[in-house]
Amino acid sequence: MDYKVRFVNYPKQYRQLKKEFDGVFEEIMSGGAFILRRHLEEFEKRIAAYVGTKHAIGVNTGTDALYLSAHALGFGPGDEVITVSHTFVATIGAIVQCGARPVLVDITGDFNMDVDQIESAITPRTRGIIPVHLNGHACNMDKITAIAKKYNLKVIEDAAQALGAKYKGKRCASFGDTGIFSFYPAKMLGTAGDGGMVCTNDDMLARKLRAFRDNGRVESVEVIECFGWCTRLDNLHAAILNMKFNYFDQWVKKRREIATLYDKGLSGVGDIITPPRFDGDYFDVYQNYVIRSKKRNALVDHLRASGIEVLISWPTPNHKQKALGLNHYKLPVTEQTSREVVSLPIYPELTDNEVEIVINAVKAFFKGLIWGSGLES
Ligand SMILES: Cc1ncc(COP(=O)(O)O)c(C=O)c1O
Repeated sequence: MDYKVRFVNYPKQYRQLKKEFDGVFEEIMSGGAFILRRHLEEFEKRIAAYVGTKHAIGVNTGTDALYLSAHALGFGPGDEVITVSHTFVATIGAIVQCGARPVLVDITGDFNMDVDQIESAITPRTRGIIPVHLNGHACNMDKITAIAKKYNLKVIEDAAQALGAKYKGKRCASFGDTGIFSFYPAKMLGTAGDGGMVCTNDDMLARKLRAFRDNGRVESVEVIECFGWCTRLDNLHAAILNMKFNYFDQWVKKRREIATLYDKGLSGVGDIITPPRFDGDYFDVYQNYVIRSKKRNALVDHLRASGIEVLISWPTPNHKQKALGLNHYKLPVTEQTSREVVSLPIYPELTDNEVEIVINAVKAFFKGLIWGSGLES
């Protein structure tokens, strides 16, 4: 379907920055600089400085960034690692791929881990916690780091959706033993394909991660320090990301402005619950703008029929996916959230007019229901 308002619009960004994209391609192709080259090194340094960590290691996906972190921290058979079900499956997959057992806790109204459930999920086998800063909103890292310290647990922050987000002035991915990002195209900072990053302040971990991503090689291709994988961030992607990162602050600002327009336009419309507005301790970057409604499925049908592309993340919670063997968990807030959420278009290239089209379409849906008349059910 040809949508009037698209959920993401990569070609529009390419058209806007065509000269710069083409310049990057020409530079990399004519220089033949493809693997572990200057652009990657530069990008890693910029991300480390921006996030506030000593190291940043480019890998080929956020998924691998999680897995390599879990492996580097020594999670393995017999270990338990606490995380949430309301996340992209890769968070849980990283634990399983190490041979450890994921222990799932519920979320709260901000879509993030319910930190009050962590302590009761801890057993003598618990080795770590993976909080997920979903939708560009930070978890309560004071509580999580205090619990981790008390029980001697490792923390991997899944900041795949939260580049730029802050908690108490500190950026996501700088609190844990490691913190990871995804550069999947739709992410806060996306490349023309896949990409990921691990951030850490720990020199030993950083060296291990560098070895893991390049078949055990760190400083010399002749010295193999361990068995590893081949999961490097390609230099071409790093060069694209480097160029795009120059716009990052203005793009975050734009996302926050769009979120404000949605907040205002959708407040009091039908039974819509707009995402919680956080100020003070939290700096949200709005990777996603997620609303809730008991009429979600009908609303989604209406929006799509009106030419507006929307996304449901996720209609089936991971613990209810039959193939994953996690359906012994009962996570009522997660399950209700999965029934009610829908993500609206939000990206820097979205115009105010397009935002208005979305808002008006949502309003039209509830008007059509004669909301409040008792006829809506
Ligand atoms: C919360 C979360 N964790 C992990 C990932 C995995 O990142 P990637 O797609 O780069 O492997 C994603 C990406 O969708 C994500 O949203």
